[in-house]
Amino acid sequence: MNMIHAKDYQDMSRKAANIISAQITLKPNCVLGLATGSTPEGLYAELIRRYERGDLDFSLVSSVNLDEYRGLSPENEQSYRYFMQKNLFEHVNIRPEATFVPDGLDPDADHACARHEEAIRSLGGIDLQLLGLGNNGHIGFNEPDSVFEKETHCVNLTQSTIDANARFFSSKEDVPTQAYTMGIGTIMLAKKILVIVNGEKKADIVAKAFFGPVTPEVPASILQMHPDVTVVGDEAAFSKLPVNA
Ligand code: F6R
Repeated sequence: MNMIHAKDYQDMSRKAANIISAQITLKPNCVLGLATGSTPEGLYAELIRRYERGDLDFSLVSSVNLDEYRGLSPENEQSYRYFMQKNLFEHVNIRPEATFVPDGLDPDADHACARHEEAIRSLGGIDLQLLGLGNNGHIGFNEPDSVFEKETHCVNLTQSTIDANARFFSSKEDVPTQAYTMGIGTIMLAKKILVIVNGEKKADIVAKAFFGPVTPEVPASILQMHPDVTVVGDEAAFSKLPVNA
């Protein structure tokens, strides 16, 4: 595992953007696995700046997102499709038909999840998967559990995730209680994985996930078994790492 130390949020965003830019430059028709949430906002803004300067071209890139709330439409401002449109897709030249987010409006969970897996397979798999890290160690919406779920599936969100996401909704009751998410197996099949973390409130879980035991109780800990993982973190998020990490 490659730990890249960044000074602050902006530096983390820039260093992560360097890795994604290198991926796109080396393989213009690459498949990017993308994440939503607060952590990647600065990274997406940096990628947009590079596109606007003429340094990045998304015309051949495809993307697949980790997850989507069950029941939210693409027009719903809290949906992950909406987030991706506003934070990246509308600002760069990625082809709309080459962007895949699980279909939150498909009421048939098995169908929605199978279609997402099929989209990933038909693209030839993910070259670089971007991940944020939940306070409880979740990746995508793979919550702490007794087993690692393999493929894209429907999850019941834990109370801690609902509480953490409530800040985006007008009330806690409006937060969806289920989501479609790539499974741990889907994520682990990506050729490269890039995790970004910032802020003091992630410090404990960063140390636990990347230097603690590998257990489905801390879903991100499985990443220790992946051959090509880079974690970019700011000083606060890396403040509880073992010495020399
Ligand atoms: C988002 C996702 C989640 C977030 C995680 C961290 O698509 O799958 O796992 O990456 O909850 O969220 P933030 O970045 O808001 O701290």
